[in-house]
Amino acid sequence: MSQEIIQKIERLRSRRRAIILAHNYQPPEIQDIADLTGDSLELSRKAAETDASVIVFCGVAFMAETAAILNPDKTVLLPRPEAGCPMADMITADDMKRVRAEYPDVPIVTYVNSTAAVKAESDACCTSANSIRVVGSFENAATVYMAPDQNLARYTALHSAKNILHWHGYCPFHHALQSEEVLLRKQEHPEALFLAHPECRPEVLSLADRVMSTSGMLRFVHESSHISFIVGTEVGILHPMRRMNPGKEFHAASKKMLCPHMKKISLDDVCLSLETLEPRISVPEDIRVRALKAVERMLLIS
Ligand code: 13P
Ligand code: SF4
Repeated sequence: MSQEIIQKIERLRSRRRAIILAHNYQPPEIQDIADLTGDSLELSRKAAETDASVIVFCGVAFMAETAAILNPDKTVLLPRPEAGCPMADMITADDMKRVRAEYPDVPIVTYVNSTAAVKAESDACCTSANSIRVVGSFENAATVYMAPDQNLARYTALHSAKNILHWHGYCPFHHALQSEEVLLRKQEHPEALFLAHPECRPEVLSLADRVMSTSGMLRFVHESSHISFIVGTEVGILHPMRRMNPGKEFHAASKKMLCPHMKKISLDDVCLSLETLEPRISVPEDIRVRALKAVERMLLIS
């Protein structure tokens, strides 16, 4: 059955001149049919470069919105539009306006895990892969405001000479990881390196051997001579890690790190989306042009 669906997706993908992009947390069967899997920065770059007519985004709403911000003339599909990101919904455009009014001279760097309307109120976007460099790019600013993720902001502050102010948002699934659980995993696997995503709490990050974006982790485990890893990010990443590194061992830091929003899309949903060219994601033009400036500034910085 799934073979039939995959063949149908193949036919529709070429008929529609479509590209399928999937985040590293997507279900295995979705990652396996994607043209490109990656972290938020890589997927944004691919969305900016593609000459496909249709982009099927297998991820959550802010990712498809970013693709739509970059490609107003393309059809951007999110097969399950209700797949959101709770952290992105922890700050509104009105909150951002209040921050701007309170700190009129402070640049605002917004994590790409945010709505288009929030991006539109920002000076630059960043991802977990480039937050330190984006903040550093405001050469004349002694202070930078970061939204919405408190943990990414605190992590960035540790590696920046700037004074970092921040909003109080968080990812419920990364924030759920406690240092006690990490210490337990370390006891169970004393030989393993512990990798953590910057969305984890500061006390968890202080236990990590490496702090990286999801694709940073994938590259690192592939190149490392270590064979055992405790993985402090959403459990979907274990699939590409195991597929690409058959001789190595990967242990989830916690079973609580499962983002249900990233698991909504099925092969049937992708197929139906390619058939109907729905549900489409678009961003009102006045918001899009302002959000685009912040996203483009992010893409200029590796
Ligand atoms: P990455 O950009 O590291 O893939 O992270 C995106 C995300 O949503 C993390 O929860
Ligand atoms: Fe949002 Fe967290 Fe899910 Fe990433 S893992 S999409 S930050 S809720």
